[in-house]
This record gives sequence, C-alpha cells and structure tokens, in this order.
Amino acid sequence: MRDPTARVHKSPTIPGVAPPELSDGRVQVRALGARDVEAYLAAFDEDADLLNLLGYEDAPKYEKLRRWFAEEWVEPPELRQWEFAVADRETDAFLGTIMIHSCDWKNLRAEMGGWTVPSARDQGVGSAAFRLLLDWAFDRVGLERIEITALPENVSIPHLAGKFGFTYEGTLRKRNLERGRRVDLLIWGLLKGERAPAAPPR
Ligand SMILES: CC(C)(COP(=O)(O)OP(=O)(O)OC[C@H]1O[C@@H](n2cnc3c(N)ncnc32)[C@H](O)[C@@H]1OP(=O)(O)O)[C@@H](O)C(=O)NCCC(=O)NCCS
Repeated sequence: MRDPTARVHKSPTIPGVAPPELSDGRVQVRALGARDVEAYLAAFDEDADLLNLLGYEDAPKYEKLRRWFAEEWVEPPELRQWEFAVADRETDAFLGTIMIHSCDWKNLRAEMGGWTVPSARDQGVGSAAFRLLLDWAFDRVGLERIEITALPENVSIPHLAGKFGFTYEGTLRKRNLERGRRVDLLIWGLLKGERAPAAPPR
C-alpha cells in the first residue's frame, strides 16, 4: 500500500468474488465512485499526516483518482490490492476508505488498512468499516489470516487491532522504504476463528 492509485483496482480477478456492498445500517462499504473524488482528495489536505500514516509516496492527484474511480481497473491480472469507499448509509456521504492489500492468494492472507476523513473520526465509523470488511474477507473471500501493519507512531491502530482480537506479533525492523527513509512497522495478525465478537455500535 505504498501508492494509493498504483496497483489498485476495483474489478476482481478472483472467480466468484464481486465488489462488496456491505452495511451495518449506519455505515456502508461500497465501490469507490467519481462522486468520492473531491472528499477523498480533501482528506489529504486536511490531515497532513495521512500520507505518512498510510505509507504513500505522493498525495493522490485529481485526474488519476477520477480515472481510477470511473474505470474498472483490471491490471495487473493478479489482485493484490482492493480499496472501497466507506460512506454514510443514509446520505451516501464519503467518510473514508477501507482496503485489503498485499494479498497473497496462495497463502490466503492479506493486510487490511484504511482511513476516515478527519471530521468523521472517533465516532465509530472506522470500527464499523473494519468489522464489515473483516467479515467479508474471511466469510466471503475465503482469506484465513488478516494482518495489520502500522508505523510505531500510529496512535489509533494498536487500540483498533486489539479491539478486533488481533494479536500483536512484533516489530518488522526497517521493513519498508518510505519517502526516502527506512521505517519499522508493527504487525498484528488475526486468524479466521479469532474474531472478537462485535461490540454494540456507539
Ligand atoms: C484508524 C482510523 C481509520 C480509525 O477510524 P475512526 O473512524 O476514528 O475509528 P473509530 O471511531 O471506530 O475508533 C476506533 C477506536 O480507536 C480509538 N481511537 C481513535 N483515535 C485514537 C487515538 N488518537 N488514540 C487512541 N485511541 C484512538 C477510538 O476511541 C475507538 O475506540 P473504542 O471503539 O474503544 O471507542 C482513523 O483514526 C484514521 O483514519 N487514522 C489515520 C489513518 C491511519 O492511521 N490508518 C491506518 C493505517 S494502517
């Protein structure tokens, strides 16, 4: 997940797996669309640390996002990363994204990540999206292990990971090269049978 537009596509090549339309009644997870571009871009202006926390090299650009969201990208042929919009169930307002990435289909594992727009944070949106995509990834896609990695300075992920039953598995030392510096990544893992039961929505 090092560039938000490279290697990302909305069209799966896994037979039988369609883009999800998930909802818990308050939050929905759906395909990204042209209507999401402005709000997607604005989040990177509003939160100066978002690029860093996501490990992206460059801020997303309008034209590239517009093309990406309007098309069904199918390249490369192997699905490595799949990103979706998180939106308000009633108004369809864009609230963030949630994705599986670093997919390894031989070993049936992937990483999960995402972000919410600053104005939607700490209201249960990220947790709701995480829950929906986690259930989809295990129960519909057939993944057997989900990982989360985060920079040591990420303050919300340790809590979020613990809440879903992830086990903290250690520090991957100088794992990635991000904008010219090697960074440590903390890693959490969750096996299919280990999901913590859903907490009541806030
Ligand atoms: C991680 C993120 C998606 C969570 O989204 P959110 O909409 O704020 O999620 P929630 O409101 O469901 O909060 C999740 C939990 O984390 C806690 N939390 C949120 N921000 C926190 C912070 N700064 N410090 C400690 N805990 C925090 C919330 O209190 C909540 O706990 P609770 O469910 O026990 O009440 C959001 O903070 C974000 O976009 N962060 C920047 C991008 C990022 O780091 N993405 C992850 C990359 S791996």
